[in-house]
Amino acid sequence: MRAPAAPTAHIQQLLDEVNQFLGHPIPPALERALRTVPRHLFLPDRIWRSDGQGGYDLCDRTTEPERWLDAAYSDASLVTQFTDGLPTSSASMPSMVLRTLLLADLHTLSRPLTVAEMGTATGFNAALLCALLGDQAVTTIELDAALAKAGKSNLSAAGYTPTSVCGDAAEGWPDRAPYDLILATFSVDRLPPAWAAQTVPGGRILTPWNSAWCCYGTLALTTHRDGSARGRFHAFASYMPMRRPGAPEPAPMDGVPRTATSTLTPWAVAGGDLNAEFHIGLTVPGASFAWDTSGDHAPVRLEVADTTGPSWATVDYDGHHSDRFTVAQAGPRRLWEEIEAAYERWLTLSRPSVDQHGLIVDATGTHTPWVEAAGRKHTV
Ligand SMILES: C[S@@+](CC[C@H](N)C(=O)[O-])C[C@H]1O[C@@H](n2cnc3c(N)ncnc32)[C@H](O)[C@@H]1O
Repeated sequence: MRAPAAPTAHIQQLLDEVNQFLGHPIPPALERALRTVPRHLFLPDRIWRSDGQGGYDLCDRTTEPERWLDAAYSDASLVTQFTDGLPTSSASMPSMVLRTLLLADLHTLSRPLTVAEMGTATGFNAALLCALLGDQAVTTIELDAALAKAGKSNLSAAGYTPTSVCGDAAEGWPDRAPYDLILATFSVDRLPPAWAAQTVPGGRILTPWNSAWCCYGTLALTTHRDGSARGRFHAFASYMPMRRPGAPEPAPMDGVPRTATSTLTPWAVAGGDLNAEFHIGLTVPGASFAWDTSGDHAPVRLEVADTTGPSWATVDYDGHHSDRFTVAQAGPRRLWEEIEAAYERWLTLSRPSVDQHGLIVDATGTHTPWVEAAGRKHTV
């Protein structure tokens, strides 16, 4: 039996916020799903909202039931679990969930549909999929055993019985494959090979994207008979990264640095220009950055590291000259030169936005990014 609908005023408030954020009313089928699946039934008693300043604000149902219910029906991502001080699970922002479902173009896929959702967490998104497509169509996979159990029990309490699996979504779930749609709710920096292998030709893979440089964007791929998956990025969503059980520790930074002077200001590549940062992240794999404003080494230093190896670079601003910066680079990669080349390419291509970028993943797993500029696709 389905659980009772959400409080009408709250659900209307959520719908209004979602429609306002998306800039248009969501289609009737999605509106029906949102009205049928009561979000509060999927949330634990303790949830955290962003405080807008890099921290989190606790809402506890036992002490503040009204505030907790307001949060449940706000168009906000709600953190439900921290590990070592970092958020490791959440109920995604409803407008992002719905925007991803819109991107899935469910009505263009042949029926009956099968969908694998990667990252069950609370089960809310899986419940929306069940409301849209029927319980039989949906498989949902969660890595964390306690979350998988809670997600399954939330789904069942709300009256939904998809196939709920505890496992590593990077491996997919071959027992129910092939899928018409794979929909991830954590971000990846490479397409796990199992996802293309477990999707029917002509099917779709939707996943939030991250790179070590920039966590942003949603990748929408179509699978093909030759085993490839091809598609483009869309300029929305920033999701927590996929957890990788047994992933090796990053290599320690190493090497004797060579120094040089650069005319590229570090603020151009790491100062908040999302389009530039996205391009660099996509085309300089493994490069990450952190600002050091302690003044210990220079008035301002940009630290660049290779998350896949020992290479590193630093770029120092001396507090006076904004046209030349002191660079030190060490290790097998010349990381700052790679960043300079990527930024130069981004300028030459007329500063493409996130949604002018795309990706081809061939049957061997080789990733080839492309950029659309002046009516042509340039592979990188
Ligand atoms: C943002 S939450 C998912 C939101 C959720 N689907 C909803 O309905 O709002 C991301 C979830 O992905 C899970 N996750 C991360 N890496 C995973 C992996 N390798 N396999 C399965 N689940 C994973 C996390 O434990 C977390 O619960």
